[in-house]
Amino acid sequence: MVRRVAIDASPPINRFMKDGLDKDAFRKTITVLAARVPPSKTGSVLKSQAMRGFLMDLPKIRSVVYDPSHPDGDRLVLLRVSEEAALTPDVSSFLKEVSNGLTTYTLTLDYDYWTADEILQAVLPEELCDESPTGFAITGHLAHLNLNKQYLPYKYLIGQIILDKNKNIRTVVNKLDKIDNQFRFFKMELLAGDPDYVVEQHESNCRFTFDFTEVYWNSRLHTEHERLVALFKPEDVIADVFAGVGPFAVPAAKKGCAVLANDLNPNSAKYLSKNASDNKVAHLMRISCEDGRSFIPAVVSRALQDPFPAYAGPKLSRSEEKANRKLQQQNALCSTHTTAKTVDSNLECPTRSCITHFVLNLPDSAIEFLDAFRGIFSSARHDGMDLDVIYTNMPMVHCHCFTRECEPDKAREDIRQRVEQRLGHALTESFSLHMVRSVAPNKDMYCMSFRLPHEVAFAR
Ligand SMILES: C[S@@+](CC[C@H](N)C(=O)[O-])C[C@H]1O[C@@H](n2cnc3c(N)ncnc32)[C@H](O)[C@@H]1O
Repeated sequence: MVRRVAIDASPPINRFMKDGLDKDAFRKTITVLAARVPPSKTGSVLKSQAMRGFLMDLPKIRSVVYDPSHPDGDRLVLLRVSEEAALTPDVSSFLKEVSNGLTTYTLTLDYDYWTADEILQAVLPEELCDESPTGFAITGHLAHLNLNKQYLPYKYLIGQIILDKNKNIRTVVNKLDKIDNQFRFFKMELLAGDPDYVVEQHESNCRFTFDFTEVYWNSRLHTEHERLVALFKPEDVIADVFAGVGPFAVPAAKKGCAVLANDLNPNSAKYLSKNASDNKVAHLMRISCEDGRSFIPAVVSRALQDPFPAYAGPKLSRSEEKANRKLQQQNALCSTHTTAKTVDSNLECPTRSCITHFVLNLPDSAIEFLDAFRGIFSSARHDGMDLDVIYTNMPMVHCHCFTRECEPDKAREDIRQRVEQRLGHALTESFSLHMVRSVAPNKDMYCMSFRLPHEVAFAR
């Protein structure tokens, strides 16, 4: 069995720093025993069975160092003990054989050496050390904490330590209890770093920029964003009623879908436009800033009156594009008819004027918007036009919601009832219910997907 000997490398305890972090107070020197070993033999000492459990193995500390007084001579193999008396007879005799004697070596550890958790354990009152407040989410360069009440007196200290210990973080905030009820963004307090809340976040191969203090964003929803976008076909036309800054809309457009994206928060609409351009899909997106209730019926007419171009096929790589251009040039030289034919067939290309999916991700109240679907296809709304012949397939509706029913069967019944009541119609065709995530002990988020009933869409 390997004998283990301990060196106390924990940071100095400093439980008086509530108002400001004194990094210099975290200096610690540890004197350890070291064996003088010729450079050619250090490898065998490190590998030897006899030395197991006695070699220096502190994180981030080398076990072999130059001897400061003889940099060209023997190396120093650092040991985990500070006195010779702590060595076993076996280790002592082994070291006598392979080394040119023992000496001491002083390690200096400072604030940079320890992890955030280790520093926090050294500064927080003992009664707060059982749990760690270091859990935080990162969005772009910003770390956001959700500190429990007991940690609040130490919030700036905690913020500074998190900032210092995470090189990619420039801003640390604590989420306050208050959430903007309508636009769903959090109020937050700066704990440390730059007061810069405009972040750049990557999700689903897209780049999103937004001001975290002005709009809604939740990185925990990324699998839900990806799940729904995976259901869409590139030819689809998506109406995203509560689009936020575009985590469904932008990746859908990147896939080839035509997207009508809406958000009532002017700041969301502003960043949605920016994200559409930054991801080079502005030509496939139309952005509006209006109440979802008026957007739902209006968007049907908009798509009919101003259709999107047909899906142009997958985006070609540069080399494919080059090869295509070359082929076109050759064709043009061989026959003028070929060119004319290409132009003609482009003119015949069907456009996209029918919405195939509605997305309603406002779980608190999306169900209450479902009555806005009543009569959206009625001819009275569309100057007598018969949408029955245009919409050969009814669109899908993906409606997010919360339920306090935790058992799946009860949750399904609860949501179905509320959806049917608001639609004013029973869901006779099958519908699917997807559990998105648990948001609180008795509160789950679901996505109900169903085909919009014909009777609802054509209701007078
Ligand atoms: C839960 S967020 C979802 C945003 C985005 N779809 C996502 O997954 O991150 C709901 C969005 O609905 C917007 N919103 C709230 N009420 C609205 C309304 N009546 N009409 C349109 N948008 C609304 C909010 O501004 C917010 O961006």
